[in-house]
Amino acid sequence: MELIQAILNRHSYRGMYLPDPVPREHLQKILEAGLAAPSGCNLQSVHLVAVEDPALMGEIGGMLHKPGFASAPAAVVVFSKLKYAADGHEYRAQDYAAAIENMLLTITDLGYASCWVEGYVRFYENIAEKLARALKAPQDWHAVAYLPVGRPAQPVQPTAKAPFEERAGFNAF
Ligand SMILES: Cc1cc2nc3c(=O)[nH]c(=O)nc-3n(C[C@H](O)[C@H](O)[C@H](O)COP(=O)(O)O)c2cc1C
Repeated sequence: MELIQAILNRHSYRGMYLPDPVPREHLQKILEAGLAAPSGCNLQSVHLVAVEDPALMGEIGGMLHKPGFASAPAAVVVFSKLKYAADGHEYRAQDYAAAIENMLLTITDLGYASCWVEGYVRFYENIAEKLARALKAPQDWHAVAYLPVGRPAQPVQPTAKAPFEERAGFNAF
């Protein structure tokens, strides 16, 4: 798939997934794409865990209370660690956002569906803490997002966006 096609075909999918397992080599590709992302001062504040073990996916599914997300045969959990650059700044959010977008594009390119599930994981029912515990993350690594991975049971529908002219332009705002 052309890169631009993957960019345009990526849409958040919240429906049910088919149970077909995601091969390890595809998960490896997705993780490698995430790790290839830029990071502020190259601090590499992101750690990624692909989950494919059905028992572990079942345990995570139980935390999510969302049948669609819980039905995925695999997922990537994104962890972030606070690291300061020499000048005292930190770029955690930018680092993991870049990694997530790289992974979502690769997931799309491989024919799978996904969704950037961050708000739900970080702000509801301590899901982030539960994920970190289930995946044995060290104390200083925080779960910030869950990306389901799998073949969608229904077609992935595009999300409406404001027209180009309202959100972009040339030479002036
Ligand atoms: C930082 C961030 C947090 C998000 N958190 C959630 C979430 O918790 N649950 C969810 O269903 N979608 C979540 N999304 C997906 C957005 O709702 C989605 O990207 C947006 O509606 C635009 O749709 P699109 O991804 O199809 O372009 C999140 C996206 C971002 C960038």
